[in-house]
Amino acid sequence: MSARRHWGLALSSSMLALGLSACNSLPGRPARADYPLRPSAVTNYSELYNENCAGCHGVDGKFGAAFALNNPVYLGIVDDKRLTNIVARGVDGTAMPPFAASAGGALTDEQIAIIVGGMRKQWARDGAAEGAPSYATNGPGDPAQGTKVFATFCASCHGADGKGGAAPGSIVNGSFLALTSDQDLRAIVIAGRPDLGHPDWKDYLAGEPMTAQQVSDVVAWLASKRPAMPRGASYAQRN
Ligand code: HEC
Ligand code: HEC
Repeated sequence: MSARRHWGLALSSSMLALGLSACNSLPGRPARADYPLRPSAVTNYSELYNENCAGCHGVDGKFGAAFALNNPVYLGIVDDKRLTNIVARGVDGTAMPPFAASAGGALTDEQIAIIVGGMRKQWARDGAAEGAPSYATNGPGDPAQGTKVFATFCASCHGADGKGGAAPGSIVNGSFLALTSDQDLRAIVIAGRPDLGHPDWKDYLAGEPMTAQQVSDVVAWLASKRPAMPRGASYAQRN
């Protein structure tokens, strides 16, 4: 064997040794702490919210296509049991999916509790919903009364027939109503959409907060504008 080949062997085996010992510090190799967690092991609120909710409810809970969760009035009228139930089971007939593993979703009960607790911690404010109508209805609304309620509290912005005013779009649009439950309409009317400049129950008219019955009536009026449902299906409220 020539001296030169000896050198070659020595070099390549020392490079191999170097390579092996350097394996853990190769550039670009993630550190142990950077390894992605198993999805069920994620316990960070922001990560859970951003991964699972922000797509529909918006980053920071606002400006999404679905109801803005960053709403202290809403969080004041809804309790943890209801929030947990909605997130775990979803809302039938709408785009709100079930998240609990037991209902076919991908989140553990613990993760759902972290999301509910985190929303409250970030966005709830003591006293924000004082005097507000309750989240649950106290009986069916009357669509005929609702026509009057609409004229009093809503027509100034949404137009006499709800088909849209100067700025807001139509709220009697069939595809919007078909995909939105009565309960969600109720939440919008009571808690508003602060992100979009929508008033809450006490701010439609100065000094004249909406009563629980007026909320139920205007929701019944909106519901009466829905396209007919196929037989057997329903737009039932959940409460
Ligand atoms: C001060 C103006 C104003 C008043 C009064 C008002 N709204 Fe709105 N409304 C808005 C704006 C702004 C939006 C959001 C923009 C859009 O949807 O085009 C909106 C959107 C909505 C939506 C759709 C919400 C969503 O998440 O897409 C519903 C439903 C609605 N309003 C119902 C009502 C009802 C019922 C009343 C009366 C009780 C009412 N609004 C009174 C301004 C108003
Ligand atoms: C694919 C879109 C989508 C995703 C993803 C989604 N939501 Fe929803 N969510 C909706 C829609 C649409 C509604 C309104 C349902 C209805 O009409 O009752 C809703 C309703 C809700 C409500 C009830 C509002 C009310 O009417 O009282 C809560 C609370 C809620 N979502 C929380 C969450 C949380 C927390 C997550 C993430 C874990 C999430 N959502 C993910 C679309 C979505």
